[in-house]
Amino acid sequence: MTRTIPIVRWAGGKSRLLGKILPRIPRHRTYVEPFAGGLAVLLAKPRSPVEVVNDLNGDLVSLYRCAQWHLDALCAEIEFMVMSRRNVTDLVAQPGLTELQRAARFLVLNRASFGGNGKTFAVAKASPPPSRANVVQLLRALNARLDKVAVENVPYDRILKLYDSPESFFFLDPPYLASTASHYAGWDQVQMQAFADHVLALRGAWIVTVDDSEFTRQAFRGCQITPVRTQNGAVNRLKCPGATFGELIIQPRPVAQAAAQTAWKPQKTALKPLKKAA
Ligand SMILES: C[S@@+](CC[C@H](N)C(=O)[O-])C[C@H]1O[C@@H](n2cnc3c(N)ncnc32)[C@H](O)[C@@H]1O
Repeated sequence: MTRTIPIVRWAGGKSRLLGKILPRIPRHRTYVEPFAGGLAVLLAKPRSPVEVVNDLNGDLVSLYRCAQWHLDALCAEIEFMVMSRRNVTDLVAQPGLTELQRAARFLVLNRASFGGNGKTFAVAKASPPPSRANVVQLLRALNARLDKVAVENVPYDRILKLYDSPESFFFLDPPYLASTASHYAGWDQVQMQAFADHVLALRGAWIVTVDDSEFTRQAFRGCQITPVRTQNGAVNRLKCPGATFGELIIQPRPVAQAAAQTAWKPQKTALKPLKKAA
């Protein structure tokens, strides 16, 4: 398997939790990621027979779709883009006229801006600006990995309805409560509770990652909850070096998950041919 890594820098990216998430993924046929962001988990796990990723952010999804279907044109678009302060200002003012231009400019802005915020030029004293050749290499790897992956751009609850089945597995990484992430708005308690209600009603297996709070623990009470601590993201690391952040990895209780998987077997036998009428 070719190992790929996220092409965008994305708030809440799960690269630092892969060691805890990947071993917990149960057997499944259809892998579904309703809050795909930078795709850290999809890109690190082995392929599943069916794979679906989704995000509400249209620019991000356009980038993935252009990488999937217009790779060479996308590479040509970024060929002459310099990771400079002037370019960041220009691209913010003119984000592109066509979908392809917008995808290319979104990518260059993400790579050249502070923490990938897409707005301000990233001044780096200790490292060089990103290499364009490296970005093109990552795009090519992404193109190969996204082969046969369905890329959706709808609210998460629609994805849950469309793809739920006893053979599905959902990795769910929603916006955290009151998060001030630069790429998307944090959720309030009403949104988090509605999300928990949807997840708890799924027939498929699932893993949720959320911020560690009394509210999230309560919303998922009865589930298997594993607290973990991770290093803060790039922006916060600069403000508070060494600070860590509490997150929860939540799964159905093993009993509930086992029941979901046994519920799948009778469906197979139900496909026996009908006896002919006498
Ligand atoms: C915590 S990030 C996911 C990070 C991702 N797991 C990664 O490793 O990069 C949450 C994502 O949910 C998306 N999002 C926010 N509200 C959404 C909604 N209602 N439906 C689908 N996606 C949503 C945001 O655009 C953001 O990319």
